[in-house]
Amino acid sequence: MITTSKGIAPSVESASAPSRRATRTGLEVRLAARPDGLPALGDFDLAEVAVPDPAPGQVLVRNLFMSLDPGMLMLMTGESGLPMPRYEIGEVMYGDAVGEVVASGDPSLSEGDLVVHRMGWREYALAPAGAYRRVDKGAYPTPSTHLGFGLVAYVGLMDAARLRPGDTVFVSSAAGATGSMAGQIARLKGAARVIGSAGSPAKVAHLTGKLGFDAAFDYHDGPVADWLREAAPDGIDVYFDNVGGEQLRAAIEVMNVHGRIAVCGALNRQRTARPDDGPGDLLAVLGKRLTIRGFTLGDHLERAAEFGPQFRAWLRDGAIVYEETVIDGLAEAPRTLLDLVGGAYTGKTVVRIAS
Ligand SMILES: NC(=O)c1ccc[n+]([C@@H]2O[C@H](COP(=O)([O-])OP(=O)(O)OC[C@H]3O[C@@H](n4cnc5c(N)ncnc54)[C@H](OP(=O)(O)O)[C@@H]3O)[C@@H](O)[C@H]2O)c1
Repeated sequence: MITTSKGIAPSVESASAPSRRATRTGLEVRLAARPDGLPALGDFDLAEVAVPDPAPGQVLVRNLFMSLDPGMLMLMTGESGLPMPRYEIGEVMYGDAVGEVVASGDPSLSEGDLVVHRMGWREYALAPAGAYRRVDKGAYPTPSTHLGFGLVAYVGLMDAARLRPGDTVFVSSAAGATGSMAGQIARLKGAARVIGSAGSPAKVAHLTGKLGFDAAFDYHDGPVADWLREAAPDGIDVYFDNVGGEQLRAAIEVMNVHGRIAVCGALNRQRTARPDDGPGDLLAVLGKRLTIRGFTLGDHLERAAEFGPQFRAWLRDGAIVYEETVIDGLAEAPRTLLDLVGGAYTGKTVVRIAS
């Protein structure tokens, strides 16, 4: 159950400047309780707070869209294992968002500017100007595309997996935000064969139909290693791992000598809230001289400068399909996050906070 507390408990931002005039109110989502196991709706709290005008140096942004990432579930729990701060009980959660400047106390940003930042899970963000990055309003047909995970897929392939032309690439959770980008970008960067796994027949058809994967299978349908041997008779060179668990172990079995595995995500763990069984016996890793490399986007942000123009060109030329699931209303964000990990959506899932 989501509880709504109106007009009480000021946000962090308003608490830091209580004397400033508040001309607006806005909703925000806080962590209500630290989940024991899988998060539930009762672990979120929706509150309405006063939103002060910006002080000198600050900028007030009305959020248009926020990004949802399964990793947020891990930030709700005690030890996420992720290289970012966990959510604290009673505090607003954070995450990527794109919004429009509505009032600026700093000359670097003006009313109407479009900005991306890390203060999702709220209708209004108020922070020093340096917390925002201005983006081109005309870059994409909708501002939500700025929240896409194409760059995540790109650095996973290029930096962690060191993709080479002619590689056979396997992507798990391939119909999702990161996976759908990884499969298509692998092809655009020269992969000879791209294989994807997903959790339903409809998603599998989508992969080989609209997204142009060479082969795809439903990971629920029998041993993953058997599917991989059939889909990749010459073995796998690169595995883009969003999942862990059985799919990681199966990929190791079917990898070629000097194969490279980019560990992007941990959906197996995120869906069950239990530790993953891991890659299993490492003898195959030794014997085949495999590389298993975890990565996070934050270590590779310099790639944005080369990726942005390429991505926009691919979109313009119809070379890449970019898909979103858009859910309306900040109040729906907690349920949407839980449904996301349950497999409800395809493409990138965003919440439209305002339009
Ligand atoms: N390294 C980084 O910098 C970085 C950045 C962003 C995201 N990530 C991580 O990358 C992963 C993918 O994120 P995303 O936003 O692209 O999610 P996503 O794939 O769009 O959505 C989650 C999907 O997970 C699938 N799923 C859940 N449990 C599964 C399991 N045990 N095995 C296979 N699929 C499962 C579900 O689809 P099915 O119907 O197919 O089961 C669901 O559609 C997450 O772990 C996320 O935290 C990492």
